[in-house]
Amino acid sequence: MKDVFLDTDPGIDDAMALIYLASCPSVNIRAISTVMGNASLDNCTANALFLKEKFRLTAPIYRGASLCINGKEPHSFPDHVHGKNGLGDVVPINTELCCESHSAHRAMANLALQSPSKITLLAIGQLTNVALAILAHVNFSKDLNEIILMGGSLNFPGNVTAWAEANIYGDPEAADIVLRSEVPITMVGLDVTMKTRISQKFLKDLTSGLGDLGGFLDQINGFYANHYAKHTENYDFPMHDSLAAIFLTNPELFITRRGWLSVVKHGNERGKTLFRADEKGPHTVCVDVDVTNALDLFRQKILDKYS
Ligand code: RIB
Ligand code: CA
Repeated sequence: MKDVFLDTDPGIDDAMALIYLASCPSVNIRAISTVMGNASLDNCTANALFLKEKFRLTAPIYRGASLCINGKEPHSFPDHVHGKNGLGDVVPINTELCCESHSAHRAMANLALQSPSKITLLAIGQLTNVALAILAHVNFSKDLNEIILMGGSLNFPGNVTAWAEANIYGDPEAADIVLRSEVPITMVGLDVTMKTRISQKFLKDLTSGLGDLGGFLDQINGFYANHYAKHTENYDFPMHDSLAAIFLTNPELFITRRGWLSVVKHGNERGKTLFRADEKGPHTVCVDVDVTNALDLFRQKILDKYS
């Protein structure tokens, strides 16, 4: 069983990662925190609470950062990808559920302290909350077991600029703090997420077996697919955040390299991730994935739990 702290900016693909994690008997979601990214912090937090109710989760939810680590306002939000509300503007986001009172970074540090070397931090948004936890709580990086992050790219072009992936570009200073920490880190970046694509047939096979919940997933992913089709005339879309969750449950489906990751903070390559191969390095990077088995696993786990 893996004890997981999920840091997320829901987000349509974040919602899919969350339902996958909730479907895995080998995963214990101990806590969830929110960060701005795919939408404002208010929207991402409301979405997390809404999804908690929809997916019948019990994990506490902590509100995180609304500003970048350097105190600056975030870039504009990607309404064209995730809708104004972050979940495709397809259903009203309402729930009676509330957040816990602690901040996200304090909750991360507390949980790591309570369960030293046991917590996997799965970060599928920008890294602001994680960097705050590292800066504010001296033992945090030692207490964590590992960080698995969705973000960055080695050889695939960026998805915000020609060089940068969204989660790293959102707060490169935070990414720099996280990559310089002593925590073992695995990067699940665009090199593998862009090739793991959800087709319309795959989506139908998944959602048609899930009743009302399937209808909701179909609607939010329909918005996401339409965005991708505007550029490619192809409704397939990449599986970003869920693939990081699949690495957490099934790392044997990935080919990885060890080494040292860093991030460019200045100039027009700001937000680009760099990698120096070294078998003794603290970082692991996913360079390839068994797409067929990753997709099969994803669909089967969700159907087993929710159909
Ligand atoms: O680049 C993809 C990442 O950016 C995903 O985490 C997506 O949810 C957005 O945050
Ligand atoms: Ca995300």
